[in-house]
Amino acid sequence: MSGVITVVAPVNIAVIKYWGKRDEELIIPLNDSVSATLDTNVMCAKTSVCVSPDFVKDEIWLNGRKESFTSPRLQNCLRGIKSRAAAERSVDDAFLSWKIHVCSENNFPTAAGLASSAAGYACLVSALAKLYKVKSDVSSIARLGSGSACRSVYGGFVHWHAGVKPDGTDSIATQIVDSSHWPQMRALILVVGDHRKKVSSTKGMKISKETSELLQYRITKCVPFRTEAICQAIRDKDFAKFAEITMKDSNQFHAICLDSYPPFAYLTATSMKIIDFVHKYNDICGEPRVAYTFDAGSNACLYLLEDEVPKVLGVIQSLFPSSTPDSFIKGLPARVEPVDAELETALSLHPEEKDSVKYVIHTKVGEGPSEVTDGSALLNDAGWPVNP
Ligand code: DP6
Repeated sequence: MSGVITVVAPVNIAVIKYWGKRDEELIIPLNDSVSATLDTNVMCAKTSVCVSPDFVKDEIWLNGRKESFTSPRLQNCLRGIKSRAAAERSVDDAFLSWKIHVCSENNFPTAAGLASSAAGYACLVSALAKLYKVKSDVSSIARLGSGSACRSVYGGFVHWHAGVKPDGTDSIATQIVDSSHWPQMRALILVVGDHRKKVSSTKGMKISKETSELLQYRITKCVPFRTEAICQAIRDKDFAKFAEITMKDSNQFHAICLDSYPPFAYLTATSMKIIDFVHKYNDICGEPRVAYTFDAGSNACLYLLEDEVPKVLGVIQSLFPSSTPDSFIKGLPARVEPVDAELETALSLHPEEKDSVKYVIHTKVGEGPSEVTDGSALLNDAGWPVNP
């Protein structure tokens, strides 16, 4: 049997959104996208893998449950890594023919809709790359699992290039800057209580591609310029520019959802309340100090600099009261500055119904996937789940 390889991989939240595929099967996007990779110490996926001549079939356990290995996306990732290993001659043919066991879990609730597939597939592919000793870039293989997963293969700020080749070999992620470049950058994820059944990203982007004229406009007229501008803002650590582009791009993505036919919406009344308070807060500051962005769900991700965190957490706490205030803020330790009377009047905000924001995760920009050797593998020495 091979040794057990265990890897943790991060979540990423896009500031220029990926929405729409040029190729459904190869998951090649219609436009470039840009994201920040978030600290694995706060949120991560963990995956253990091993192969053995004794295993009778490929098997996978996800978040404590045995799942089928037949999913085409999973198969494509495994095939992609194996053919790369064969091309690089990194392991012998016998090793490549052995069956595999995969065990994976997220340290955050999958149901919260927090980019779990991005972290999960980046983790799987990074673990497979270590197991099969693949040395080259594997972002184009992670992409086959879930488009956004290719950006979680790197830390810091990441640019996913749409590419032009039909086979997708140039549709890869590259790092813009590493996680040490802008150490003050923080993210607050506001987990919004929302029980509606959502249109999946995969389905939503298909409807948009087929029906939204705004999507075509966005791809040709907006994204190329915004991508270049936000990459520059990141390099220059120009928060105001970064924030403006981030918010406009999130708004445009959600406008496309409404421009689709039939339309669908991910933002709820609580999401709109968050948008509203961020704009009011920025107006009072006289410049953008907080940026919101929303994926295919109602949860907000706020990007802001470290110095602004206590004040913004104070506003969030008074605007979105919690019935469990002691566990309202999770993740990195944070100070909360109570909102003073002046700010309260200026914001003219009325508290929402209790628990409309369930909790907040405080995190920062972090590194890409890494191997863990601290004895916390999810498979035992014989290659079976530690917690069956
Ligand atoms: C709104 O990567 O989940 O979060 O490629 O079909 O698996 P598939 O979609 P997925 O889409 C993510 C969409 C988004 C924007 C983004 O992350 O860029």
